[in-house]
Amino acid sequence: MRIEKLVQIMRENEFDGALISPGANLYYLTGLHLHESGERVTLLVLNSDGEYQLLAPSLYENTIRDFPVTFWRDGENPYEKLAWILGELELSSGRILVENTMRSDWLIHVIKLGNRNFEFHPLNLLMRALRMRKDPAEIRLMERAAKVADRVFEETLNLDLLGMRERELALKIELLIRELSDGLSFEPIVASGENGANPHHLPGNRRLRKGDFVIMDYGAKVQGYCSDITRTIALGRPNEKLLEIYEVVKDAQEKAYRAVKSGIKAKEVDATARETITGKGYGEYFTHRTGHGLGLDVHEEPFIGPDGEVTLGDGMTFTIEPGVYVPGLGGVRIEDDVVVKEGRGKRLTRADRELVVL
Ligand code: CO
Ligand code: CO
Repeated sequence: MRIEKLVQIMRENEFDGALISPGANLYYLTGLHLHESGERVTLLVLNSDGEYQLLAPSLYENTIRDFPVTFWRDGENPYEKLAWILGELELSSGRILVENTMRSDWLIHVIKLGNRNFEFHPLNLLMRALRMRKDPAEIRLMERAAKVADRVFEETLNLDLLGMRERELALKIELLIRELSDGLSFEPIVASGENGANPHHLPGNRRLRKGDFVIMDYGAKVQGYCSDITRTIALGRPNEKLLEIYEVVKDAQEKAYRAVKSGIKAKEVDATARETITGKGYGEYFTHRTGHGLGLDVHEEPFIGPDGEVTLGDGMTFTIEPGVYVPGLGGVRIEDDVVVKEGRGKRLTRADRELVVL
């Protein structure tokens, strides 16, 4: 199990234990799919001897099997049981890793448990190294999630888009994703016309009309693994300026993709996209990093930005998504998911990148 890999690097880095609440890390380590947003205390406790115990609400009594677990019922104090588990695992002091997304009220209770001298560190210090390189099984799931993204794009082109509100199109995208996969990677973005100048526009009531460029950014999950695609399409006769911008962004995306290879730093891929766009005079309108790692989380290491010091290597998966955003006019973004395989970049998303004009 992957827990053993974590234990090994915990020892190498002199950590004594870990407290891991539900989320991508817990799923990655154990395969257990537990609610992420509940208030009921759910924690995997692990020591550097590789012993572990899950504390979980009794709601899971019928679903968690073949795993060392202590259940607590509503009305009981889960922190008393946690104190017992910490005692069993001989964790009373030392350097403890804490899941980055753990609720602060849980952590405050842990701090108050008494007679414990813990020094806390974020779990991602170690997890990012484990999760950054995907194994073949993980890559297969990401390929499936990417195929869903491609398929959804094809389906959107069959819709009667003129006059449709952004939020309606976002809902249709969501329904298609839910039909074809295990769910959304994130809330779909649909940004039309001048709204396209906002990279994270929330789909609103604006109706799509002739002359618009429409940015669609969405992703699907397959067994927890995410895809994340953006395509920009034009409705009716496209604006000349946006046509020019489209070609610049497409060129930057292609060049950045071709720059991907083992042994270079993430920031070199970013620089390739950035120089291409800056060379055409749109540098000031490319306002975000070129991409981000992708896996169980939709944003994870390696980040493909000007400060990306990670050296790329086989098994890494990330997006390449340059964009140009001109206030008052609109925007263009083209995003693909890429895996490093045999030293080179390989696209996972393959939907057409030529401008589609409907
Ligand atoms: Co995206
Ligand atoms: Co993205």
